[in-house]
Amino acid sequence: MIKNNKLASWLDDMQALCKPDQMVICDGSTEEYDEMWRLLVDAGAATPLNEDIRPNSYLVRSDPADVARVESRTFICSEEEVDAGPNNNWKAPAEMRATLNGLFDGCMRGRTMYVIPFSMGPVGSPIAHIGVEISDSPYVVTNMHIMTRVGAAVLDQLGEDGDFVPCVHSVGQPLVDGKADVTWPCNPDNLYIAHYPNTREIWSFGSGYGGNALLGKKCFALRIASAMARDEGWLAEHMLILKLTNPEGASRYIAGAFPSACGKTNLAMLMPTIPGWTVETVGDDICWMKFGDDGQLYAINPEAGFFGVAPGTGMDSNENAMLSLTENCIFTNVALTENGDVWWEGMTDEAPANLTDWKGNPWTPDSAEPAAHPNARFTVSAAQCPVIADEWEDLKGVPISAILFGGRRATVVPLVNEARDWTQGTFFGAIVSSEKTAAAAGKIGELRRDPMAMLPFCGYNMADYWSHWLKTGEQAGAKLPNIYYVNWFRKDDNGKFMWPGFGENSRVLKWVFERCNGTADAIETPIGNLPTLDAMDFSGLDLSEEAIAELLRVEVDGWLAEIPLISDYFDEYADRVPPAFRQELESLKARLEASQQNVA
Ligand code: OXD
Ligand code: MN
Repeated sequence: MIKNNKLASWLDDMQALCKPDQMVICDGSTEEYDEMWRLLVDAGAATPLNEDIRPNSYLVRSDPADVARVESRTFICSEEEVDAGPNNNWKAPAEMRATLNGLFDGCMRGRTMYVIPFSMGPVGSPIAHIGVEISDSPYVVTNMHIMTRVGAAVLDQLGEDGDFVPCVHSVGQPLVDGKADVTWPCNPDNLYIAHYPNTREIWSFGSGYGGNALLGKKCFALRIASAMARDEGWLAEHMLILKLTNPEGASRYIAGAFPSACGKTNLAMLMPTIPGWTVETVGDDICWMKFGDDGQLYAINPEAGFFGVAPGTGMDSNENAMLSLTENCIFTNVALTENGDVWWEGMTDEAPANLTDWKGNPWTPDSAEPAAHPNARFTVSAAQCPVIADEWEDLKGVPISAILFGGRRATVVPLVNEARDWTQGTFFGAIVSSEKTAAAAGKIGELRRDPMAMLPFCGYNMADYWSHWLKTGEQAGAKLPNIYYVNWFRKDDNGKFMWPGFGENSRVLKWVFERCNGTADAIETPIGNLPTLDAMDFSGLDLSEEAIAELLRVEVDGWLAEIPLISDYFDEYADRVPPAFRQELESLKARLEASQQNVA
């Protein structure tokens, strides 16, 4: 069955190292999916939900010590430490290999080694890439079935000599000496999520959860792919992709990078409040972009499903996500209702009177702890989203007109700010930040920079990644997207959010769309191009003129106070920082000072 030479010999090596009882090549079929659930249910690891309420869906509870991505145990093993950069944990490849060879030796004893051939992106797309994950977790197999394209078509695409990214995963709990299995095997004391960007390999040991174990997602589609993209001249980004259509039926595609937990999935599935406009979803988390022959950047969503945070998702906040979750879903670490359905904080205003919490304990609204873990997840096929765009699986991708970079700032940063050009846009992406939530309104709080929302996901030195962005903008014949810095999170002096967000963000999207068409006005300011007060559609919105003016104001003092902070931040990357960024910063400062003098 395995025709690919590299794959065949790698599998021999992995079997010899991990010593599983047996090896199964996954075919991606429904029978295989059902068989994994039969194993998980029989082992007490999964609970089927009520067929009448949520057909073909399961609840899984993880070990409470294995509930999220662990950045402190995530490593980039480039030859030189400086190539991993201050944004990553680094270990020398030889040292990491020695450690991992020890840990993986015999780690699958008593278990099955599943071989999961998967495509990130529609099979056959020139933007897609193939990986093969080996894993001893049937739960991983089920999630990979939904989150990626698995099976024979991928092996066919790989052919005899096609290349793939080898992804090695073990929960790190061999069943030796008669040891009985537990419902969620893991080994949190020996956790490693290691990436070798030069040889393009991923090795993950000790966790069965999310991004630690579903290696196609953050590990491949961002950390390894970012290094591939640098070498091959494309972009692998932590971005949603949406399709925006105006009342005349014209469409544009917009990509957007937002830090984790800033409403990316909500924006990707937004229901516009402005009449006649529609948003459809292409992707909610990751975007791969390559130049087409026409010089435009074409994007695919490399994933096939959504692995979304459940708490906070409800009919009010994200109706389309809720409507995606009616059947064929996996729920991890949510609460179970008395009638065999799921619940989490934010799903409904009122909690049910009696639940079983994510740890399997009885729960009532008086309980001190939340019923669902804050990082509880749903896994669902993107095809089930009621607003999935028809072209979401187009092999050639969709042409991107605009890129949004979002931060979470209570102060200073306006609602939307258009970059003058690609260089300034890249600079915006690099400086986006979030205030620590305790920051007092009206003051600059402590800032956590999350450049391009890639801080935990860039597989090499962040400053080299900025240079790669700048180089991308110099591509001959490129017709580059416009770039926008957006901020939904401004607060007033009483600490109240000034912008309603959610569906109202469509007003910002509309302005962006019309800027791309050349039909909306903007005013050049020291910080970038801001909408004129009447260029944005605020009709029907209960917002005072003062509030609107405040949301779109250039806070000269606030920006000037940030210049030294940005400069210090760039210093962390020393001489790798692109000179164009230092120039951007200098000219931003000069423009702000000049405007201050004009006012004085
Ligand atoms: C995610 C994240 O899970 O960004 O998508 O953390
Ligand atoms: Mn993400």
